[in-house]
Amino acid sequence: MTPIYQTATYVQEGIGKHKGYEYARTQNPTRRALEKNLAALEGGADAYCYASGMAATHAVLSLLKTGQRVVVSDNVYGGTHRLFTKVLARYGVDFTFLDASDPGRLEARGGRFDMLWIETPTNPLMKVCDIAALAAIARRQGALLVVDNTFMSPFFQRPLALGANVVVHSTTKFLNGHSDSVGGVAVVRDPHHAEWLQYYQNAAGAILSPFDAWLVLRGTKTLALRMPRHEENGKVVAEFLRGQPGVKKVYWPGFPDHPGHEVHRRQATGFGAMISFDLGTREAAGRFLPALRLCSLGESLGGIETLISHPATMTHAGYSPAEREALGIGDGLVRISVGCEDADDLIADLQRGLTKV
Ligand SMILES: Cc1ncc(COP(=O)(O)O)c(C=O)c1O
Repeated sequence: MTPIYQTATYVQEGIGKHKGYEYARTQNPTRRALEKNLAALEGGADAYCYASGMAATHAVLSLLKTGQRVVVSDNVYGGTHRLFTKVLARYGVDFTFLDASDPGRLEARGGRFDMLWIETPTNPLMKVCDIAALAAIARRQGALLVVDNTFMSPFFQRPLALGANVVVHSTTKFLNGHSDSVGGVAVVRDPHHAEWLQYYQNAAGAILSPFDAWLVLRGTKTLALRMPRHEENGKVVAEFLRGQPGVKKVYWPGFPDHPGHEVHRRQATGFGAMISFDLGTREAAGRFLPALRLCSLGESLGGIETLISHPATMTHAGYSPAEREALGIGDGLVRISVGCEDADDLIADLQRGLTKV
């Protein structure tokens, strides 16, 4: 097994004489083993790991300079929206949000941009963006396409093979898979970008710790066992929810009548385990969530234990109420990350909650 190199520094043999390891912010063998692993899983030239998904996102944005323009698919993770609009906008990077599930909108918008940042399916409304079509539009004007692939993991979707330049993950989620580590990674196709991400990793210093790197390495060993089970349970839960009288709408790309179903089928090998559903009002969601016993109410996703959340007050609280309303993230919306428990137990638990709605 890859050891956990729990050290801050490395003893050197003389002035300028060392074996490639000087200081643990700059290099760590456990972290490097994970980076090579994740680069291979996503089919990238290289990968760099950071202290969280947000730190990885920040690292990718450091490829840009003041005055450059980013187009972002709307209803991205609230933390991404917050970093872009409240932090990086202060440095003169320009952000425009649009519904990228229709590539025609991007073309119709006109105007140049330097980076296109998407999630697919989006968080939390599960809109599907056509990676290959968007990559072609970005490429035509020399812009980079970045895909946050956290929801799908490389087990179901490999955006670099579809033309994306960079893939980002919160490794906190499916890659680690056990809700016991916070981390992030950026995987790149172009060695030139890899060089910068490594430089930035050392310069800014938001590195993944050796123990967290070891946990994610261990998580990746069971990714191919966990993901099919997540998906199998996800399908059972989505279909169950759709038939319930208290549930107004279920957002899951696996439904054949989901507007992005065909595109998703073309670009991914599974539908994953992320589902959102609308209980109508905040009061209904407020009665439903505390009644659950197996599904845990909490931020995050992608663990083998089912996590359920209320986007308006949790993951997407960073959006203003008006922004949430414009996007359709209502107060009755609930998001579930379906775990690997027994499906019948999950249904019984959801049924218990729904009797309170
Ligand atoms: C899709 C997505 N991207 C990025 C992040 C940020 O990751 P982290 O919490 O590890 O910083 C999250 C966190 O929930 C997420 O859901």
